[in-house]
Amino acid sequence: FLSKSGCVCFKSFPNIAIVKYWGKTNIQIPANPSISFTLQNSFTQTAIEYTYGSNSGNIDFEFLFEGEKQLNFERKLRVFFERVMEFLPWLRYYSLKINSSNNFPHSSGIASSASSYSALALGLAKIHLEVTGIELSNHNISQLARLGSGSACRSAYGGWNLWGVSDFKHSSNLYAIQINHITHPLFKHINDAILVVNNQQKKISSTVGHQLMDSHPYREGRIQQANNNISQLSGALSNGDWNKFSEICESEALSLHGLMMSSTPSYTLLEPNSLSIIQKLRLFREQNNISICFTIDAGPNIHVLYPDSDKDIAEEFIEKELKNYCTNNMVIYDKIGKGPIEI
Ligand code: PMV
Repeated sequence: FLSKSGCVCFKSFPNIAIVKYWGKTNIQIPANPSISFTLQNSFTQTAIEYTYGSNSGNIDFEFLFEGEKQLNFERKLRVFFERVMEFLPWLRYYSLKINSSNNFPHSSGIASSASSYSALALGLAKIHLEVTGIELSNHNISQLARLGSGSACRSAYGGWNLWGVSDFKHSSNLYAIQINHITHPLFKHINDAILVVNNQQKKISSTVGHQLMDSHPYREGRIQQANNNISQLSGALSNGDWNKFSEICESEALSLHGLMMSSTPSYTLLEPNSLSIIQKLRLFREQNNISICFTIDAGPNIHVLYPDSDKDIAEEFIEKELKNYCTNNMVIYDKIGKGPIEI
C-alpha cells in the first residue's frame, strides 16, 4: 500500500423503511427484503484522518462523537472494523482519527446508525482508493455499511432503495440497490415529518429485537408478509397509488410493533401519545380525503408521510393537532433526499 496520509469527510443521511427489516442471521443477513427512502435534512457528518505507520498490526483508531470519546460506540466500531478488514486490508497499517457528529438530536426517532455507518463506509472507500488505487463500487460501499448496521446499507444512496433478495433484478442480501427508476413522480417528492413523542433512549435495542425474531411464533408468517408487501409496494410506487402505499406502510409499521408485543419476552415501544397521533391522523384523513399516512421505526415516534401536493394542509394539521402530543412540541420536518455527499 502507499504510505499516505490525509483526511476525508462525508455527509450521509438516515433512511426510513416502509417495508421493515426485522430479524436477521449472521452477519447482518436480513430475514426478509426491505424498502426505504433516504432523508435529506437530518445528517451525520464524519471526517476520517488517516496516517500510515500503525505498528501494532491491529486496528488503530480513535473515535470522537460530537467532540467526545464514547466507549460504547468504540466497542461497536471495533467489531465493525474487524468485519470490514478482509475488504480493506490496509486498515492494519494505518491509524484513523474519526470525528463524527449529527445535526439532529440524539434518540429523536431517527436511525442515526444508518447515517453513521454509511458515512463511515463512504470515507473508508475513499481512503481505499487513495491508498490502493482501487475504486469500490456503490454496491461494495453499501455492503461495508451493512456490516456496521443492517439498515445502513440502504443509506449508501439517495431516493428509494431495496435491500434483500427479491424479484428485483440484482437484488441481494449483501447490499442495497436503488429502485428510483420504478417510482412514480408522486413518490419522488415525499415528505416525512418526524413527531417526537419521546426522545429518551429506547429500553430495548433493535439488536435484541432482531434476535427475538429467531424463535418468534410468527416468524414464517412475517417473512411471507414482508415478501408479499415488497411486491405490492413496488406496484404502488410505480403506479403512483397513494392509497395502496399508505395501506402497506401503516400495516408494516403496526406489524413491526405487533411482533415486539408478541415476542418472548414481549415488550412495547409505542406510547399512549403514539396511539393518539395515529387515531387523529386516521380520522383527519377520513374527513378530508388527503394523501397522508404514517410509519413507525423501532420507537414511539411517528413519521407522518405526505406528497408535495398535500404539503400545506398536512403541515397545518401537524402544527395544529399533532404537535401537542410531542415532547417539547418537537417535530422534525424532513423529506426524501439525494443521498450522501463528500465535503
Ligand atoms: O439496522 P438495524 O439493525 O438498526 O435495524 C433497523 C430495523 C428497523 O429500523 C426497525 C427497520 C428498518 O428496516 O430500518
